[in-house]
Amino acid sequence: MSNSQVSPKHIAIVMDGNGRWAQQRKLPVAAGHKAGVETVRSVLNLAKAKGVRCLTLYAFSSENWRRPKLEVSALMALFSNYLDSEVAKLKEEGVCLQFIGRRDRFSPALIKKINFAESETKENSSFYLTLAVDYGGREDITNAARQLAEQVKQGDLAVGDINEALLGQHVALSDLPEPDLFIRTSGEYRISNFLLWQLSYAEFYFCESLWPDFSEKEFNAALASFSQRDRRFGARPDQSS
Ligand code: IPE
Ligand code: IPE
Ligand code: MG
Repeated sequence: MSNSQVSPKHIAIVMDGNGRWAQQRKLPVAAGHKAGVETVRSVLNLAKAKGVRCLTLYAFSSENWRRPKLEVSALMALFSNYLDSEVAKLKEEGVCLQFIGRRDRFSPALIKKINFAESETKENSSFYLTLAVDYGGREDITNAARQLAEQVKQGDLAVGDINEALLGQHVALSDLPEPDLFIRTSGEYRISNFLLWQLSYAEFYFCESLWPDFSEKEFNAALASFSQRDRRFGARPDQSS
């Protein structure tokens, strides 16, 4: 039995392979990240055209601070340029842009731009674009646990009332449908601390293509694969609900 739902509602992508793309061309790594931004633009348009409602992109993990200083600052400059050039357009196109992850390690100028981008687009609801920047899945769950612990400490919550639904309200993306399709490019088969809680029942799709080379053809192949999946959620495939 194939998936009756043709398009996923929410795609989460680990955009991997920018470094190797640059290396293949004997270019500096920053050139690979820059090329990757072009793919972000095109994948956003492709997702919209296919009736997908939410796209969550892993742009910088909490572990990516371990990279060379020069690369980190090139990435920060790219985030900043992306916001400068896209926010007005996203606003006009009805896209709600949100960020998940820590903010306190960014420069004050970047934090300002992130806050501005969110407030400018917060009324939009035709499409939800979320950028995971300085994001880590373990940290996300840890924060949720901390918030619940705080409520218990204040006497507002009983330990026995903590359940999955409640914890799920305190992790990132709780305001959106759960990601139903996970994509990782570049032939790496791991989650790298992305949405550990939220991907519990996502369908996983891996492809060899490096992120800057991820084309419409590849995107359609991912959707086609998704439409063939049998999503059982633990039940028997012949159970109707
Ligand atoms: C992914 O590309 C982008 C970020 C992590 C910011 P990489 O830079 O990890 O590319 P590879 O894995 O080195 O090819
Ligand atoms: C994961 O890719 C993070 C992003 C794509 C932003 P990495 O390239 O950093 O992951 P590892 O190091 O291969 O696990
Ligand atoms: Mg990588």
